[in-house]
Amino acid sequence: MSKQGADAVHCVTYSHGTTIQVADGQTLLEASIQNRIPHHHQCGGQARCTTCRVRILDGLTHVSARTPLEERVASERGWDEFTRLACQTRVHGDLVARRLLQSPQDIVVLDLDELGAPSGVEERELEVAVLFCDIRNFTSQTEKSLPYDVVYFLNSHFAAAAEVVLNNNGFIDKYIGDGLLAIFGIRGERPAVACRNAVRAAIAMQDAAQRLSPMFERDLNISLRLGIGVHFGPVILGRIGHPGKRPITVIGNTVNVASRIERMTKQLNSSILLSDSIVAELPGALRVGASHKLQLKGTSEDSVLYHCDGFTNPDPALLVQSSFHRIAPRLVAFGERFYCILFEANPELRPLFKSDLALQRRMLVSMLSSLVKGLNRITEIEGGVRALGTRHCHYGAISTDYDKVANALLLTLAEFLGDEFTPEIRAAWIAVYGTISGLMMAGAEVQ
Ligand code: FES
Repeated sequence: MSKQGADAVHCVTYSHGTTIQVADGQTLLEASIQNRIPHHHQCGGQARCTTCRVRILDGLTHVSARTPLEERVASERGWDEFTRLACQTRVHGDLVARRLLQSPQDIVVLDLDELGAPSGVEERELEVAVLFCDIRNFTSQTEKSLPYDVVYFLNSHFAAAAEVVLNNNGFIDKYIGDGLLAIFGIRGERPAVACRNAVRAAIAMQDAAQRLSPMFERDLNISLRLGIGVHFGPVILGRIGHPGKRPITVIGNTVNVASRIERMTKQLNSSILLSDSIVAELPGALRVGASHKLQLKGTSEDSVLYHCDGFTNPDPALLVQSSFHRIAPRLVAFGERFYCILFEANPELRPLFKSDLALQRRMLVSMLSSLVKGLNRITEIEGGVRALGTRHCHYGAISTDYDKVANALLLTLAEFLGDEFTPEIRAAWIAVYGTISGLMMAGAEVQ
């Protein structure tokens, strides 16, 4: 129940069950952040994304009218009055709301829904990179396995592979048995960006499979070896199926070709095969092995396929993400060790961390995870990172503290990664940390 008066406080209940107390006039986004409720805000509350959007389920009369910035976004997208940007919506009474976006996949689905909404047109033709991934010898390896073991195996693999797709701005189209179909470029990225994201995802998927396979071999007697085919070309994107269940998907010959390229990986003894249309979009950027000119089943012309051996120059985001995955199972210990190293070398920083240290460690781990995941969408997360810098400035952080944090982070990484902390990976972390801390310092300056 709201308290009235100058220091009025209202109750905001989120549909996942949490109720928070919100000061009159605070925005919904500010209230979420203050109460540590995960809430996307990739542009940092500037009405330039839409990732903070919420649906007001009850109490619409208790929120402020749309700001002109929000009005523009809402009318472009045909939103009804209940869909609001949390960063632009001020609370003046009790209400119930639902956060609409939980993951980057949600963003794509909602964007596509809204694109179709005003005109009723539900299909679009566009050029995308299509990635098809399949497990080698899945049927023969699992025919004697217990069904629950197979479910566990597939879910563990799909969780890792799909995470890689989302981290690289991709869209998980569907799972087909032991296969996964992912699309890159449906959010208007340039072809070169879409192709680079797809290739990076393919490399990271193989990396994840190599990490997981020893565990599956030991526990389930199944090895996880993947064949991945990647192709670039036109598709139709739309909702397809019965009106009661009509998922967003892509169709077109580009999808069929990607699937056939994947099938050739076994025959050509390659883990990742790229079509010539992918290689043409990334001139000089790829290390490609032998090429094969052949006619793919169902096509009338020859195709040229290339083995992919990685990028010509180290890709910092890929190196940081793959090394971060190696420490992911020990993140709590990582957080503990980081703060030990930081405070040992810089005891004057200890008073800045007023909240309890266990909570602080959880925040560090969650912040690090989301920053690492967002590295390939840096323009999207830029606003959020700046806002993080503003908040750290309020806590008392100054620019020289960022160097101290960098040193502690590098020392902790060196301890946890051991021999795997190569000079190349170290340089990648320094580059990525430089970008993130630069944005945070810029955020601290503009408050
Ligand atoms: S529009 Fe609200 S955070 Fe971007």
